[in-house]
Amino acid sequence: MKILYVTSEAVPFCKTGGLADVAGSLPPALAEQGAEVAVVLPLYDRVRAKYGDKLNFLCYDYVDLAWRHSYCGLFSLEQDGVTWYFLDNEQYFNRGDLYGQMDDGERFGFFSRAVVRMLDHMKFWPDVIHCNDWQAALVPVYLKDDGVREDRYRSIKTVLTIHNIEYQGRYNAAVLGDLFGLDSGWVKDGTLLMDGDVNLLKGAILCADAVNAVSPTYANELKMPYFAHRMESIMRQCSNKLSGVLNGIDMKLYDPASDPRIHSNFSAADLAGKATDKAELQKMTGLREEPHTPVVAMVTRLVSHKGLDLICEVIHDMMELPMQLVVLGTGDQRYEEFFHWAAQQYPGRMSINLDYNENLSMAIYAGADLFLMPSKSEPCGLSQMIAMRYGTVPIVRETGGLRDTVQPCESWRDAGNGFSFANYSSGDMLHVIREAVYLYKDYPDVFARLRQRAMAGDFSWARSAREYLRIYSNITGIEWPVRKNTSRAMDDRTEDAHPFDETAAETPVEEAAAEPAPVEEAAAEPAPVKEAAAEPAPVEEAAAEPAPVKEAAEEKETEKKTAKAKKGEKKTVKKAEKKAEKKEKAEKKPRKSSKKTEEA
Ligand code: GLC
Repeated sequence: MKILYVTSEAVPFCKTGGLADVAGSLPPALAEQGAEVAVVLPLYDRVRAKYGDKLNFLCYDYVDLAWRHSYCGLFSLEQDGVTWYFLDNEQYFNRGDLYGQMDDGERFGFFSRAVVRMLDHMKFWPDVIHCNDWQAALVPVYLKDDGVREDRYRSIKTVLTIHNIEYQGRYNAAVLGDLFGLDSGWVKDGTLLMDGDVNLLKGAILCADAVNAVSPTYANELKMPYFAHRMESIMRQCSNKLSGVLNGIDMKLYDPASDPRIHSNFSAADLAGKATDKAELQKMTGLREEPHTPVVAMVTRLVSHKGLDLICEVIHDMMELPMQLVVLGTGDQRYEEFFHWAAQQYPGRMSINLDYNENLSMAIYAGADLFLMPSKSEPCGLSQMIAMRYGTVPIVRETGGLRDTVQPCESWRDAGNGFSFANYSSGDMLHVIREAVYLYKDYPDVFARLRQRAMAGDFSWARSAREYLRIYSNITGIEWPVRKNTSRAMDDRTEDAHPFDETAAETPVEEAAAEPAPVEEAAAEPAPVKEAAAEPAPVEEAAAEPAPVKEAAEEKETEKKTAKAKKGEKKTVKKAEKKAEKKEKAEKKPRKSSKKTEEA
């Protein structure tokens, strides 16, 4: 399976938000599962400054967009099993900041057009182009536009991931031809038209073969006006191709046992280092060094959808509790001013740090006891997962990915991995903060077990990568995972007898991720995702099944499946052979040769 991942930012090259973390981790995770993966990004000046010597210049070509005929250089870098491509045009990408320029529409129109134009010069013709957010939203549209004239563009399937529907890429409809080089038909038939504007994200939602949000709950929320920023009817219209795939975090980068960015390393088995980190954090931020006072932390952009209004409403009630509060972040002036003022009221008990500082953020994850995210909406959220990894128990509002990753603590039966509240209400938030603070103070054993459960969560990318591969397989009809030696694979499977097939497939994606925090064993399983293919059912259908979830199989079930698998073996061998033949033919499709290839 050949995947081209299109993004406007990716760690470690350039980052403004969570998209960069996802784009830096998912492609290597896909490659680890055996897919061929390339990523394409703009060559911003900051990337050139840091990675300039490491990049290979491959070639250049010209991109025609409306009346413009613009240079586009192609650079690449091999890293983590992935080819990272960078598209060069200094006029568009030597701008200091990634976004926020008055011609962002033109810049990312060029980027999307150039991605399609430069396909001829990349190492493979992709089966799937996976686009992210509005900046890459024109790619599926250009593929359809070009597909009218050239068959080969129609062979590429597209996936769109929505990281935050608030940002849609909206422009005056009059600029369609001039900026994006598209015929007015695209607006007249409504594909790119929304509330009188050209809306790039809407176009991609309609044109992509599959659309997903970054958590199952957010995928559902997107059908509701409260969350959808006017896109709810489009999302409902597309619900048959909409799913939610929960992001992961880089479990190696965020590992308290080996993270060099924190003062003392620790693990779930030995939390002594965490106590030292807490003392260190209190020292760094001017909080009183009190080992038994819970430190509640926030690392956040100070913007309204993060739920800061709730905090403004009840800050004094919060600070009446026996707790300390540390906040790190920048954002809207009104919140910055509020927190600055509030911190002055509670010297030694409240610390506000109006900046973005990676070292301090890691010191907070490692040293705090509770992590507060009362977001109004949160497509996925990565901080709560990082916090849990460092034994900092989250307190969240039940929305988006927060709802999918944090299960409320039920002390009476030792369940849950954090605290949560449902309504966007400061009273409800205060109630759970109080519950958390007193659990910490009065029932340290119960709190310690809760902390252990939070730390045991598996938020690795492997599980998300498998879900994306299932989506790719579903839209392309390409079998995944590919079994090279079918009979051997069958033997392996009967030995393993994983309950990863039809029993599991009964659980829809939404429920799958809404399940209690994925625990280590679940993802540690090397189970092939699509064992369902052992069934004589056609591959396409198998792939179209909702995400399988691993459940404890009863012995009988296992026996039944083993017998079934043996029966289906012959048919599967034949099918796999046919499939391989088909694939081989498909891969022989003609490729334009690179015209202007130059040696670096
Ligand atoms: C956006 C969302 C955030 C998500 C991230 C990565 O920044 O606001 O919730 O975690 O994208 O998908």
